[in-house]
Amino acid sequence: MKLPTTLPAWQQLQTLAASPTPHLRELLTDSHREHRMGLTAAGIALDASRQRLTPAIQQALLALAEQSDVAAQRDAMFRGDTINTTEDRPVLHVALRGDPLHAGPWGNAVQADVQRELARVCDFAQALNAGAVLGFSGEAITDVVNIGIGGSDLGPRMAIEALAHLAAPAVPGVRVHCVSNPDAWALWSVLRGLDAKRTLLVVSSKTFTTQETLTNAASAQRWLTDHGCPPEALSKHLVAITASPAQAARLGYPSERTFLFWDWVGGRYSVWSALGLPLAIAVGAENFRAFLAGARAMDEHFCTALPAQNLPMQLALTGIWNRNFLEMPTQLIVPYASRLARFTPFVQQMDMESNGKRTHTDGTPTTVDTGPIVWGGLGIDGQHAYFQLIHQGRHTVPVDFIGVLNEDTPLPMAATHHGVVNLNLRAQAQAMACGRSLQDTQAALMKDGMSEADAAAMAPHRTFEGNIPSNLLWLDRLDPMRLGALIALYEHKVFTQAAIWRINAFDQWGVELGKTMAKAMEQRKV
Ligand code: F6P
Repeated sequence: MKLPTTLPAWQQLQTLAASPTPHLRELLTDSHREHRMGLTAAGIALDASRQRLTPAIQQALLALAEQSDVAAQRDAMFRGDTINTTEDRPVLHVALRGDPLHAGPWGNAVQADVQRELARVCDFAQALNAGAVLGFSGEAITDVVNIGIGGSDLGPRMAIEALAHLAAPAVPGVRVHCVSNPDAWALWSVLRGLDAKRTLLVVSSKTFTTQETLTNAASAQRWLTDHGCPPEALSKHLVAITASPAQAARLGYPSERTFLFWDWVGGRYSVWSALGLPLAIAVGAENFRAFLAGARAMDEHFCTALPAQNLPMQLALTGIWNRNFLEMPTQLIVPYASRLARFTPFVQQMDMESNGKRTHTDGTPTTVDTGPIVWGGLGIDGQHAYFQLIHQGRHTVPVDFIGVLNEDTPLPMAATHHGVVNLNLRAQAQAMACGRSLQDTQAALMKDGMSEADAAAMAPHRTFEGNIPSNLLWLDRLDPMRLGALIALYEHKVFTQAAIWRINAFDQWGVELGKTMAKAMEQRKV
């Protein structure tokens, strides 16, 4: 196996990292830099001009991708090879958003399963939105409560919020709620506002054994019966989404209301599967299909664009430069569109559960640092909170700024709001990159009327080192296609990094130990 440190490109990058590169302030004086370091795919534009990259570093990173056989590893995933070796499975979430008319490299059997379930999901979402799904009293369902956790919650919940503007108040106007935490309040605060006669429980769990989800599901069922639902009519109010239909059936979920996905879909990669049903209900089947099409556009780009023009690969390679060579252990993700508030926690799971590994695929301990600590939240709010540490603290934190170029919220002053938001995004990225030197700070203070002595005393406090690397990712609008493409972009970034680090991005043994211990303690009644 080609361990990263044995590759000539890795060693070359180490040498490059050991010699100083110009400050971003200087690099950005090149007026062609933004154009040269810009890339666009599937309605998303990347401006990487504020990364601490020189042409020599970029070349070495491309060589690293080549020497790591990233393209061959990518093709193996799309073919359905058993790349998740510790769970002995292929990894085929890409098939879930494949062309509905033509099977991809994964073949006809997978294609047929995927299209069958997708049609069932879309039909059910349409029936529900048409008022044709009835509860025990014969009244139409108006509220859906999705119960799931981790990958069975974060994706649909994030996407429902991101596309909230499309949640058309259809007749009779189905609302989707999400509950993940088994804390009683989390469920109660949703159920207390609902009418049991009109409420549908969607229990989303790949394994259908997750304690938190089953606790919430049992409690919600009890709430239904306590509010008049006869036990024999309970199935009218239940939907299961799972890769373990036998387990769902054992717990009383009817097969005609059980939507399937498969063990080759990782939980954190499952929003594209039947697990997206709550999203399809919230935004409509057509928008759900557009969401899949957006991801497919990014898949096609990932598979066909040359590495130098390949958006996910570029994101991955600069991430590796920052993580492994500039030794920055975290990655900040700050969307500047409030509907994307849950995008950061969603990527946090996708990245950290995938690449938080310390073992190479051959079982030996990793020889390099792997997945970064991913954190953040809405950028505008962050500016008034933790951005101080980014600007002047002792950690260098690389940033992904995510902005939306065109907004059409129907508020009279929407354009003004949008201008403020995007102006701030650009200003923060520029301030982080360029900073302000001691000399410039002192001069600025004196220009504002301070005496030379006072300015000299104050300047160190108001100086900014800068040189903080960032990506600017611009969605031309926030719609189902762009959202699908954005998620797929991060998925393939994570994949590319794992391919270079030689780790398995698709298992999650680290989270299993706690689960096993909880089970053992429950049995011992500790
Ligand atoms: O605990 C983490 C995890 O295993 C995630 O990988 C998964 O998305 C989540 O639990 C939920 O699991 P399930 O869908 O089986 O309920």
